[in-house]
Amino acid sequence: MDKWEKALLEEDPNLDIRIWPAVGKAENITFAVCWNQPKNELKKYPNLKGIISLGAGVNHLIGDPTIPKHLKICRIVSPSLTQQMTTYVTGAALNYQRKFYKYYRQQQKKVWQRHSHTLAENLTVGVMGLGKLGTPVARQLETLGFRVKGWSNSPKNLKNIKTYVGQGALNDFLSGIQVLICLLPLTPKTEGILDLDLFKKLDHPAYIINTARGEHLVEEDLIYALDRGWIEGATLDVFSKEPLPEYHPFWNREQIVITPHIASITYPKKVASQVIDNYKRALSGIPLLNEVDREKGY
Ligand SMILES: NC(=O)c1ccc[n+]([C@@H]2O[C@H](COP(=O)([O-])OP(=O)(O)OC[C@H]3O[C@@H](n4cnc5c(N)ncnc54)[C@H](OP(=O)(O)O)[C@@H]3O)[C@@H](O)[C@H]2O)c1
Repeated sequence: MDKWEKALLEEDPNLDIRIWPAVGKAENITFAVCWNQPKNELKKYPNLKGIISLGAGVNHLIGDPTIPKHLKICRIVSPSLTQQMTTYVTGAALNYQRKFYKYYRQQQKKVWQRHSHTLAENLTVGVMGLGKLGTPVARQLETLGFRVKGWSNSPKNLKNIKTYVGQGALNDFLSGIQVLICLLPLTPKTEGILDLDLFKKLDHPAYIINTARGEHLVEEDLIYALDRGWIEGATLDVFSKEPLPEYHPFWNREQIVITPHIASITYPKKVASQVIDNYKRALSGIPLLNEVDREKGY
């Protein structure tokens, strides 16, 4: 947390910051700045007015039932996170479409061999989750000439992007998709959504990009679908167990590109002012920016 402490004090040198577990008297703590905090911890602070997640994801907070119900939870939303996610996902989609992964393997064996590729205008990309990150990703892919579909909970109106709403429209959304991108929040409704049943409904062979949360993917189903040829490959940035254990079968699958949860990283200096803004709002009882709906879970 040293970098966070430094960045926050640069913004406001008068802040009194305590780094857990050396927090002193529990009653002095009024605002919590958290990432993967231990469960049962946040109920111990009687004067806590608000909590901010140090990233876009909030499942470490929503998934902790011991956090008192009245406490407001907010998260980081920043152009830096959006820019990083957009470039990561676009890079992964282009890697698949232009077959860079094949050329990389060929180069290691000094093989000169051309592969035909599907033109962007003939490739359908589906984005699950059209929120702060999914929408700019979908827009960027559309700008690059891909056919783009999007799926969300509530209706969206995005130029040149066909959008689908809710569980009832999931099958229509999945139909014809060749590259599927997951940018959903992790909730009871979305956990395990990338499973065999879903893979069967895509165009075959399809490609999967998961940069949301590891628990969205049923990992053994991906292996099965790869072996069946329904899925041609995947780029995965998140895993149900991180770091990905050494024994994990994904490591030995050359069709899977693995990155260590780096798609979009929160840089303290870029968001310190946002954290302080929400701290001040929480103390004044003003609605927080980027507040999470604890009922919906995101
Ligand atoms: N790998 C990384 O480095 C990294 C970094 C940052 C974030 N993330 C992850 O990226 C994901 C997306 O973040 P975000 O900030 O874009 O989230 P967000 O702004 O909350 O957007 C979530 C989107 O998912 C839709 N959605 C939620 N539940 C749904 C359901 N059951 N069915 C259909 N659509 C549903 C929402 O629909 P509505 O718009 O209708 O509400 C919304 O469009 C999160 O899982 C986050 O943890 C990963």
